[in-house]
Amino acid sequence: SIAAHLRDHANKIYIGSALAPSHFTDAQYSTIAAEEFNSLTPENEMKWANVEPSKGKYNYGPAEKLVEFAQQYDMIVRGHTLIWHQEVPDWVSVLSGDDLHEVMIDHITTLVTHFKGSIYAWDVVNEIFNEDGSYRSSLWYNNFQTSFIADAFQAAAAADPSAKLYINDYNVEYTNAKSNALYNLVKELKSQGVPIHGVGFQTHLAVGQIPSDFATNLARFTALGVDVAITELDIKQNGQSQDAQAAAYSEVIKDCLSVNGCVGVTIWGFTDKYSWISSDTACPWDSNYQAKPAVAAIEAALQLM
Ligand code: G3I
Repeated sequence: SIAAHLRDHANKIYIGSALAPSHFTDAQYSTIAAEEFNSLTPENEMKWANVEPSKGKYNYGPAEKLVEFAQQYDMIVRGHTLIWHQEVPDWVSVLSGDDLHEVMIDHITTLVTHFKGSIYAWDVVNEIFNEDGSYRSSLWYNNFQTSFIADAFQAAAAADPSAKLYINDYNVEYTNAKSNALYNLVKELKSQGVPIHGVGFQTHLAVGQIPSDFATNLARFTALGVDVAITELDIKQNGQSQDAQAAAYSEVIKDCLSVNGCVGVTIWGFTDKYSWISSDTACPWDSNYQAKPAVAAIEAALQLM
């Protein structure tokens, strides 16, 4: 029999997963990853502390393994992530002012140039807002206020003019203070001619908490002239049934499909075996690689368009 896989139905949008090359020796892991998805995001391997643990000493190996896997199985790659308040190596966190600025531009330029041509989209800045819509206190904000944002996008664009450049955040899936702040920033950056091409909605959710205005919220961003993508989807079962979880996954896929300019959905790890969420079961495949009802629900939703 010819088994159908998610990627066979990913026509209007791509369907991806965060992957870690350390699991590739687990045959079931790599088989499902290759068969089901046509996009991948390195879960950790392109983060600053991992890829440039000391100044100028790049550890590209694990990230390159992922890029090679993507090439082998005809998948696109979302690069994640250039500027974040987490995973800042110690040698960077002691810097300030011009020294910090120089290192920031150098890191973006070097990393984006290294992978130029193999990255579909980069998460350029990640999680810069607090829940109330104010800017998060971080090494970047505390040194440069908001100017690091445009500078980061400009440096990434100069290094790879073909990559789609994203801002990425969580708890922005519905209309609230945080998503309003994100919206206002994207609007401002666009009006200033900053090369920003997309907004990533992480979408770490739980059953019973899928926002009813998700599609409406996505659409107000695409109206600004940017793509949108669901970049880190997982849905905690939250004491509910697997069928309820499947319905929630289906709803999110349908929300993306209903918005022109929603280009794809990435699940933040497809199996509970390796999920960053250890307190619940949030992935479409369980820890023994058995497909939960969520897999068929995602497949059916993808076939709607
Ligand atoms: O691999 C080392 C291991 O060698 C070491 O012994 C162990 C001891 O702590 O740590 C292991 O590294 C961990 C790594 O995950 C791989 O498992 C790090 O401690 C841990 O901090 C890291 O967590 C990652 C987290 O981001 C922080 O970078 C998660 O895997 C990853 O899923 C999570 O992903 C983030 C997105 O990048 C941004 N949005 C939220 C999302 C979930 O937190």
